[in-house]
Amino acid sequence: MIDSKSEWKAIRGRFLDVTTGCLDPSLIDENIRQYEDGLLLLKNGCIDWFGDWETGQDKIPSGCSLDHHKDKLIVPGFVDTHLHFPQADIVGAYGEQLLQWLENHAFPAEKKYHDAAHAKAMADFFLDQLLRNGTTCASAFCSVHPQSAEALFKAADQINMRLIAGKVMMDRNAPADLLDTAQTSYSESKALIEKYHQRGRLLYAITPRFAPTSTDRQLEMAGQLKQEFPDTYVQTHLSENLEEIQWVKELFPQRKNYFDVYHHYGLTGPRSIFAHCVHLEEQEYDRMQETDSVISFCPTSNLFLGSGLFDMQKSRAKNIRVGLATDIGGGTSYSMLQTMSEAYKVMQLQRQDLSPWDALYCATLGGAKALSLDHLIGNFDVGKEADFVVLDPQATALQAQQYNRVESLADLFFSLVILGDERSISHTYVSGSLVHERSVN
Ligand code: GUN
Ligand code: ZN
Repeated sequence: MIDSKSEWKAIRGRFLDVTTGCLDPSLIDENIRQYEDGLLLLKNGCIDWFGDWETGQDKIPSGCSLDHHKDKLIVPGFVDTHLHFPQADIVGAYGEQLLQWLENHAFPAEKKYHDAAHAKAMADFFLDQLLRNGTTCASAFCSVHPQSAEALFKAADQINMRLIAGKVMMDRNAPADLLDTAQTSYSESKALIEKYHQRGRLLYAITPRFAPTSTDRQLEMAGQLKQEFPDTYVQTHLSENLEEIQWVKELFPQRKNYFDVYHHYGLTGPRSIFAHCVHLEEQEYDRMQETDSVISFCPTSNLFLGSGLFDMQKSRAKNIRVGLATDIGGGTSYSMLQTMSEAYKVMQLQRQDLSPWDALYCATLGGAKALSLDHLIGNFDVGKEADFVVLDPQATALQAQQYNRVESLADLFFSLVILGDERSISHTYVSGSLVHERSVN
C-alpha cells in the first residue's frame, strides 16, 4: 500500500552502474553491475530497492507510478567536476591559449553577471544545458559577483539538484570591474556559505580563480574561510598552461611550486578540486597525494586551448582522485559523453587505455568520489539520492546502424561514448523527479 506521506516511484529498464566496492579503478570490470530487465524503486527521491525486475516487482506498492524505459540504458547521473557558469555564451570562441582567451573572451563574458536579471536568466539556461546532457551534479565557478552565485544556487535549489558552486575571488590581474578585494571576497563568500552551504543539496566551494588573480592577502583570507568552514570545498585551477605556470613562478617567487602557493595558504586537502594539472612537477604530484587533493581532468578544454595532455595513468599511480570535467566555456561541450570520448583520445595519444567501463566510472562513481559525495550519489546503491539518466543508444541513424553491429554491453556503451551527445539523453531524473525529456522533433 502507498503510504500517503511518502512519494514512491518505480523505474523499469536495462540498468548499468559501477558498485561502491570498486576502490581500485583497475578492477572496474569486476565491479560492473547490470540488470537486463531491472527495477529501481524510489521513495522520497532516494533509492529504496534496486535489482532484477522478476525479484522486485512484488515490492512495488500499489498505486505507485511506473516509468518503463524500453530499449534504453539507464545509468547514474553524470558528475561534471569543473565548469564555469558565467562562460555559458563563449563556448567555441575562437582560438587562443589560456591567458589571451581569458582576456579576450572569458572576462568580457563574466562582466555581464553583475546584472542579477541576466544571471537569473542564464542560470536557467545553464542548468537546462546540464540536464539535457545528463549531468545531475556539478561543481561550478560563478563570476566575481555574489549575485551570480545567488542566481545559480536558487535555480539549482528549485529542482533539488546537487550542486557545488562558489563566487570567484579575484583581486588583481583582471579588468577593474571584475575585481573584488581580499576583504569583500571574504565577507561575500562567508555570507554565501552561511546562506547556501548544506541548504538542501547545495554545497559551497571557496573559489579563488587561480593564483595569478589573487594577492597573497586574498589567498590568506580564502584559507581563513576554509578554516572557519572546514566542510566547504575549495576549487581553483592548477598547472594548466606553460605561460601561466611561468607567471605564477614570477608572482610567487618564495613558493616551491604552483601547488605550494595554494598549500601555503591552507587551500589543499580532500575537498580541494584542482582543474587541469596538465604540467605538474614530480613534487607537486607527491604533495597532491599527501594532502589527498583532487584533480579535474578537462579533456575538451585542454585540447581546445592547446594546454596539453593530462597524464591520467600517473595521477592514478599516485593514488590521486581524478574527476572528469567539461570546463565550459574553455571546454567545448556540456556533454559528458563527448568529454569521455575526448578523454579516451587524450589517453590514446599517450598509449594509455580508457576502457568503456572506466569511462562510465569516471563520469559517475569516480566523479562522486572526487567530490567526496560517493556516499550520496554515483551509483544505484540503496539509500543514495536518485539521480540517473536514460540513454538512447539509437538516437541517430549512425548510432542505430552501430546498434546492430555491437555484440556486448561494453561495446554498446563505448559507441555511446564515441558517437553520443545530448541527443543520446532520453530522460534525466534528479532526486527521483523527471527534469528533462528529449523531444524528438
Ligand atoms: N584559469 C583561470 N581562469 C580560468 C578559466 O576561466 N578557464 C580555464 N580553462 N582556466 C582558467
Ligand atoms: Zn576552469
